[in-house]
Amino acid sequence: MEGANLIVTGGCGFIGSNFVRMVLTELPNCRLVNLDNLTYAGNPKNLADVENDPRYRFVKGDICDAELVASIFAEEKIDTVVHFAAESHVDRSITGPAAFIQTNIVGTFTLLEAARTAWQGRDDVRFLHVSTDEVYGSLGETGLFTEETSYDPRSPYSASKASSDHLVSAYHHTYDFPTLITNCSNNYGPYHFPEKLIPLIISNALNGKELPVYGDGKNVRDWLYVVDHCAAILKVLQQGVFGETYNIGGNNEKQNIEVVQTVCDLLDEKVGLLSSGETRRSLIRFVKDRPGHDRRYAIDAGKIRRELGWEPSVTFEQGIEQTIEWYLNHREWVEEILSGSYRDYYAQQYGER
Ligand code: NAD
Ligand code: DAU
Repeated sequence: MEGANLIVTGGCGFIGSNFVRMVLTELPNCRLVNLDNLTYAGNPKNLADVENDPRYRFVKGDICDAELVASIFAEEKIDTVVHFAAESHVDRSITGPAAFIQTNIVGTFTLLEAARTAWQGRDDVRFLHVSTDEVYGSLGETGLFTEETSYDPRSPYSASKASSDHLVSAYHHTYDFPTLITNCSNNYGPYHFPEKLIPLIISNALNGKELPVYGDGKNVRDWLYVVDHCAAILKVLQQGVFGETYNIGGNNEKQNIEVVQTVCDLLDEKVGLLSSGETRRSLIRFVKDRPGHDRRYAIDAGKIRRELGWEPSVTFEQGIEQTIEWYLNHREWVEEILSGSYRDYYAQQYGER
């Protein structure tokens, strides 16, 4: 991987931007092209600190544009694909699934074809597809998702990701194509778009706005600090076995209500109570549930730990503290998003909450 020529798709998003920064730090001799068409979730400012690095090139474009993708493979002699680009928000997949089918399925297919065409006969190449634990469906009170768990996607988002995973696996079996798939649990950390639970709650709680908790708040997610996810992906790229899948998770199962309460308490501690004198927990509102809301996700990350020696570096308590500090120190990053076109979208979907 030392002198690798990478294409990272979706590098202006949440996880992609953290990953691009990590690669440029960890692999001094690499070159990296970031292909991102800057949807509402893509923000070039996430990578402002690396944009003048001579090893880095940003291309604004769509992963579904076969001609563009082929030209990047040729010009940049790409030998490594790390594929993050996706429509990623479950709620949006319920109200508007079409973009999920296009980007997540057709886009992945377009990248696979471009790589297969460009790489014929090469054995020094690799295609890593970044996926999610949501493809496995929903767990009951007990049990963990392993790499052997059957796929059972239940939202348009997870169905589109499952479909792309199957395409990637099929390319390995059919063409002996050098694939790696990672299925990760919920990430949190710097540059997380404020429609997702943790950054939404931080932002609303700072602004004294209501904190919407879906249903009874007892749905469980298994939280992983984004930097640990990026380190796992780098490990899989460097040491993973082609054709294999690696589950990645932080062993941090929490009910949503616990997460929201933790954020409230930490903010009360760090910035003081609300101007009314009340705690931020007073802003919590139980609202209408997400349709088909998966009850519980939890990852068994034993395979990546045993076979590649990866482990998370921070606990949830450390990670959430660092995350809140980051948001407190980057309030303008959130404010800029909240004052742009996202504000109108949010108001249309959710009213004034
Ligand atoms: P994100 O929504 O923050 O970022 C997605 C990025 O992809 C954006 O920069 C967007 O502009 C870009 N993009 C979207 N459509 C594109 C297209 N057609 N062409 C080019 N670029 C396009 O997403 P994220 O949370 O960073 O997730 C990244 C990947 O990781 C996704 O594949 C997601 O399924 C997966 N994943 C996310 C999580 C999580 O908790 N966020 C967990 C597991 C897996
Ligand atoms: O599990 C991995 C997945 O995690 C990724 O594949 C997805 O891309 C990512 O968006 C995330 O999906 P979730 O649906 O779990 O994340 P979200 O932040 O939307 O919601 C987390 C939990 O919080 C979920 O149970 C729904 C709930 N929730 C969410 C929002 C936005 C609320 O209670 N209130 C909210 O306002």
